[in-house]
Amino acid sequence: MVYLLHSYFGRDGRDEAEELLDRQSGNRDKPRILEAFNEPIDNWLDFFMFTMFTDRDGKSQLMSLSESSLDPLSRTTRFMLTEEAHHMFVGETGVSRILQRTCELMREAGFSEDVRKVGGIDIPTIQKHLNQWFSLSLDLHGGEVSSNAASYFANGLKGRAKEDTFDEHVVKDACYRMEFFEDGRPATRDVLMRNAMNEVLRDWYVGDCAAGVERWNRILEHAGVSERLRLPDRKFNRHIGMYSGFHFDPNGVPMSKEQWEKRRNEWLPCAADSEYLLSIMAEPVYQPGRFANYIAPPRRGINQKPVDFEYVRTEQ
Ligand SMILES: [Fe+2]
Repeated sequence: MVYLLHSYFGRDGRDEAEELLDRQSGNRDKPRILEAFNEPIDNWLDFFMFTMFTDRDGKSQLMSLSESSLDPLSRTTRFMLTEEAHHMFVGETGVSRILQRTCELMREAGFSEDVRKVGGIDIPTIQKHLNQWFSLSLDLHGGEVSSNAASYFANGLKGRAKEDTFDEHVVKDACYRMEFFEDGRPATRDVLMRNAMNEVLRDWYVGDCAAGVERWNRILEHAGVSERLRLPDRKFNRHIGMYSGFHFDPNGVPMSKEQWEKRRNEWLPCAADSEYLLSIMAEPVYQPGRFANYIAPPRRGINQKPVDFEYVRTEQ
């Protein structure tokens, strides 16, 4: 992106590129613009969920930009999509390996809640982290109704994900049926599709995430575990767009601030969860072929190397 700004946007582009490079994740003076990129990540479950859901937002945005009529932008983002695919692979397989191990430990422990007694990560904790990173990543798609999104589309800067699968690409009069939240209850109204482009992209994103969660659930199914992971409703825990400022449970049922405060820790990671995760991740495991107790080995190594290959050399 810095290369594009330098090459095609003159002095404005160069200034913008410098500012972009200055912003750093979690930096108090110069934080990243999008909040999900400033959230702390100090355990592997958060890291895997981040690369599963937040990097998939990257995929959303890149798919939209890869349809750009600005050819250098389109070509660069197509190239970046392959990189993003590897990030999502890391997240999806990371959580898969944790689930695999949780299922093994459940056979010893009996119930998911008891998995912690044998040093594993219980499914409710995994679900809470899923809720957290999915909802944060929904926010990254922007407001539901957006005149900016409309003008990006109208000017050909962005398209929809997989624009070639649509019959019509001008989208001047087409409408999108959108759910609103008015006077404490849901309502449906038609809005111009161009103004709903963020929501159109979010629909694609939710579908892509749901397919990933389905693949995770197959692991639970194969292990004979009856619990399932699920995506929370898109109104849950939102801080951007029309649902911000309201509270909803993971089924999308509206609730008061007091009810939310009382039940928040059932649905989102709390201090005790982070503390537990850090406690089981405190001891690093360096030996090739050995893995921490809460995670199963990967099914195969990277780059056709065996699982017990010495991928990282550490000076000890
Ligand atoms: Fe990424």
